Formats: sequence, structure tokens, C-alpha cells
Amino acid sequence: MVTEKYTRILGIGAYGPSRVVTNEQLSQTVDTSDEWIRSRTGILERRFGSDEQSTSDLALEAAQKALAHAGVLPDEIDLVLVATITPDMAFPSTACVLQHKLGLRKVACFDLEAACSGFLYALDVADSMLASGRYKKALVVGAEKMSSIMDWEDRTTCVLFGDGAGAAVLSKEGEGPALVGFYCGADGSNPSLLCQPAGGSALPASSETLSSRKHFLKMNGREIFKSAVRVMESSCRTLLEEHNLELSDVSLIIPHQANMRIVESLSQRLEVPMNKFYCNLERYGNTSAASIPLALNEAVQKKALSDGDLCLLVAFGAGLTWSSTIVRF
Ligand code: ACO
Repeated sequence: MVTEKYTRILGIGAYGPSRVVTNEQLSQTVDTSDEWIRSRTGILERRFGSDEQSTSDLALEAAQKALAHAGVLPDEIDLVLVATITPDMAFPSTACVLQHKLGLRKVACFDLEAACSGFLYALDVADSMLASGRYKKALVVGAEKMSSIMDWEDRTTCVLFGDGAGAAVLSKEGEGPALVGFYCGADGSNPSLLCQPAGGSALPASSETLSSRKHFLKMNGREIFKSAVRVMESSCRTLLEEHNLELSDVSLIIPHQANMRIVESLSQRLEVPMNKFYCNLERYGNTSAASIPLALNEAVQKKALSDGDLCLLVAFGAGLTWSSTIVRF
């Protein structure tokens, strides 16, 4: 039976690894400078997991905080979704690894890959699964160890990313901010704009793929920049229109934390002032699927949202994928 009740965020949590690397530190090993990174991206520092930490370890930290915040026991979770492009392994899923590390029951677990839009895609999927009535409490995580796929010899990409995780416990029963609208889209016509070329079935690992550094993230930064601004604007407008809402109804926009110049361009195109955008990318860099939950968690901690406020989450990522979600506090 399909229920009309909104899915609620019962609790949220996030984790940023303790190893902080400033632009200045990075410029000691990479041909770059604090001035270049700061002015082109707004990033001041990022956090990297230790050699011992895999993506599931970052996810574990965030998930434990989300469960505690929700006041939900691990035994109550009956669905786990992990959005990531840096899984522990190609398979089994990081969600399965996380299930074991959290000591959950033998419940449904799977990973979802929509790059930086992954967490918002996962909210949409979890909402549908909860609406089916077959699942009661979902743990949705966005977690990335981007440092594991970064090419330290490519200054055009390695300065942009960071590691982290964010998690939310969702249910149709209970109290908390309501997920009131979802929109997901994708354009698969040009995958090479942002990809990890080797290691899959199209280009299996070989000594050639290793020597040509094809296991690292590759990006056409300029094209991604242009697409990002365009799709985030249309994604915001489409979702709000579907729900008969205006941008003026929105108290706070939390965009994917890739680059401050992208956020500034979005602010201009939407004609929404920058003080309505929540950003923490200066301290984390781009953490891909973890970026939105890391920022949302921080906004909640800082009480940037009050009861009744509408918050618009909007992301874009490799694929290209894009997604937006309306949350009513
Ligand atoms: N340090 C110093 N110089 C650099 C660096 C660096 N880290 N990187 C590039 N440069 C140089 C280039 O070599 C180039 O030099 P040249 O003019 O002598 O050839 C110059 O800086 C300009 O390079 P551009 O690529 O034109 O710089 P641009 O202003 O476009 O900024 C950037 C690059 C920051 C990558 C920008 O294009 C961008 O933000 N794109 C979007 C990236 C993004 O959001 N990615 C995430 C998408 S989704 C996901 O996360 C999975």
C-alpha cells in the first residue's frame, strides 16, 4: 500500500577526517599555490582519511552520529543505501561492508552511483522504498575517499577534492524535517567530461592502464563548470515549479560544494543573494556524494534552519547527473 505521508529525516550526522591539508601544504608537493586555489575555487583546506580508513570507515563514523542524533537503534534499520564513487571495492557494495561494521541486522543494502548527485538520488530512492511500506527505517549515506582516486601529478584536479561522509536516518514515522519534493536527471552523452576511465569492463586494469594513469579521476574542468551552473539552475527551477513554489519561499539553498565560483554563478542566474546559500567547501573541498550531507549537517548544527523553513538541496556530478530535493523544517 502506498502511503502519502512525507519521509522524515529523523537524524543526521557527518564526519570529516582529522587530517587537514591546507593549500599551502599542498603547494609543497604539487605545482600550485594558495592564491590560485583560493581565487579559482574558494577552497582553503580539505580533509583526507588515513591510509587505514576506507570509504566504509568514513561512512561508519557518519552513520553512528546520525543514528545517535535520531535516537534510533541499529537494530531498527531495515535498509542501507550508500552513495559513493569511491567504494571500498568494486564489489561487494560498501553498504554491505557498512552493515557489518555497524552490526545491523541482515537487511537490504546496496550502493548507488550518481557521483556528486548521489546523496540526493539516494534520498529519492529511499523515499520510494519507504513509500512502498516494505521498509520502515532507512540509513542513507554519502561517503567518499576521493584521495584514493586523485592523481597527485595532475594539479588541475588534485587540489579540488577532499574526503568525508554524511548520513541521514529516514522514516515515514516520527518527527523531523520532511522531504517534500525530489527531482533527478541525467545526460549520459559525454561521459569523458568527468570520469575514472580504467578499472571497469570497458578498460580493465592492465599494466598499460596503470602506466597511463587511467585509474585516476579525469576532468574537463571548464566544460563541467558551464554544465554545472546550467543544470543546477534548471534543476532548482523545475522542482520548485512542480511544487508551485517560488525561490522567495526558500530560506536556504545548500548546493553541491564543488567550487565557490559555481555557487556565485548560480546565485546570479537564480537572482538569489549569496547569503541564502550555505557553503562549507572552503574547509572540505569537493567531497562528491558526501558534500550535501556534510553541509546540511553543519547547517542543522548551527541552527541555520528554523521550523517551517524550506531548504533546497541541489547537486550535479559526473554522468552528468543532477538532482534537487526540497526539505521542510
Ligand atoms: N595551480 C596552478 N595553476 C593551475 C592549477 C593549479 N592547481 N590548475 C590549473 N592551473 C593552470 C592551468 O594549467 C592553466 O594554465 P595555462 O593558462 O598556462 O594553460 C590555468 O591555470 C587556467 O586553467 P583553467 O583550467 O582554465 O582554470 P579555470 O579558471 O577554468 O579553473 C577549475 C579550473 C577550478 C577546475 C574550474 O574549471 C572548475 O571549477 N571547474 C568545475 C570543477 C568541478 O566542479 N568539478 C566537480 C564536478 S562533479 C564531481 O565532483 C564528481
